[in-house]
Amino acid sequence: LSIPDLIAKKRDDIELSPDEIKQFIQGLSNGDVQDCHVGAMLMAIYIRGMTEKEICSMTMSMRDSGERLNWPQFRGSVVDKHSTGGIGDKISIPLAPALAACGLKVPMMSGRGLGITGGTLDKLESIPGYQVQLTDEQITDLITNVGCGIISQSPKLNPADRYLYKIRDVTATVPNNALIVSSILSKKAIEDLDALVLDIKYGSAAFMKTTEAAEVLAEWLFKVSTMLGMKTCCYITEMNNPIGYCMGNAIEIQESLDLLKYKLGRSSDLEELICEQGGRLLLLINKVETIEQGREMIRNTFKNGSALQKFHDMLIGQGVSVDIAKQLISNDETIVGSILKLSDICHQGISLQAGYIESIDAFKLGTIVQRLGGGRLKPMDTLDLSVGIRLLKHVGDSIEQNEPWAILYAPADASKRYPKFLDDLNASLLVSSSPVKPLQRVYKIY
Ligand code: URA
Repeated sequence: LSIPDLIAKKRDDIELSPDEIKQFIQGLSNGDVQDCHVGAMLMAIYIRGMTEKEICSMTMSMRDSGERLNWPQFRGSVVDKHSTGGIGDKISIPLAPALAACGLKVPMMSGRGLGITGGTLDKLESIPGYQVQLTDEQITDLITNVGCGIISQSPKLNPADRYLYKIRDVTATVPNNALIVSSILSKKAIEDLDALVLDIKYGSAAFMKTTEAAEVLAEWLFKVSTMLGMKTCCYITEMNNPIGYCMGNAIEIQESLDLLKYKLGRSSDLEELICEQGGRLLLLINKVETIEQGREMIRNTFKNGSALQKFHDMLIGQGVSVDIAKQLISNDETIVGSILKLSDICHQGISLQAGYIESIDAFKLGTIVQRLGGGRLKPMDTLDLSVGIRLLKHVGDSIEQNEPWAILYAPADASKRYPKFLDDLNASLLVSSSPVKPLQRVYKIY
């Protein structure tokens, strides 16, 4: 069949055969499939969905669109974690070096921002010199000598996801089970893993709005990932409120560094999620006997500086100069701030009433960051990495009337880009007159 015939078949809700799916995916690399075909096919899949057989074929065709990594010498210790996307979700950035500091190997293929959710790769690119696309030799060196690398798809590694991801981001075709499962698992299947943790977000700022929808996605992810031979654990976690205190690109690297330096000064939801998911990976590969031991092993890598050292080594392995890597791990916040620059135009979110913070609307805040230049509206948009939001308070904290609770680092033309950004900022805070329990992030573990 021709490519338009394949699109028509999907449009008319007829199952595509494995060969037809392979033909479409191969067409992304050989020029048979163009952007207009991709947009139409993605929307047809979005509307019609895919059968189990189609999802499996799509995942395997995407995996096989390029080369695969191979780690026979590290059998038993190759792990990874991937999230469906959230606001302030920087978990992977401190987690990969923490796992490497525990002696594991983490060849983490991450993504860019999708919709309002930030992307690990975009965030890391706010570090001058950081390269997301590495040669085979660089990846092997990094995993052998440092233990972790956070890399992107490339013309050689899953070019199909690289292509589809960019178009999904700007064609309203992200929140679809078939497309999410094939995108995530085609990347993970290339990595030759022994164990995988998946973090499926639910809530107003997630692609899955309800726990029920997240559970269906988790079941699909678990089924396909097990079929591909990966030992997998799925977490369903809350995504109505931002994770941690920072949202944006450079600002999330600042917060990740604070955690790697163990400078957060209070037990945050971010630290707990990282210790939980990292601890789970240690348990899955039998490196510890209980999840409590796993959590403590991860936490210790932050306390004793070994995760920070691994992060430093990973940066150098990914193209960052020795000077910048050294300055970033220093305790001098002025130097760190001069490398991970934030806009110097600031606006404050102020509470209109006294009480306890009941919720902080991650969807609104994520939209502000995206619309002010921190995310994309067109595939080739260049990001403004200096845009971001820093929370001064979190859910459960007490607050006074007229007390600031957030700082927005905005571009000079913010009102032109998103006229209601200040109204949305102020409308994001919900204050209750009675005490509020802190967030419970983990809803379910499979
Ligand atoms: N992360 C991915 O890599 N793909 C998706 O579709 C969603 C989150």
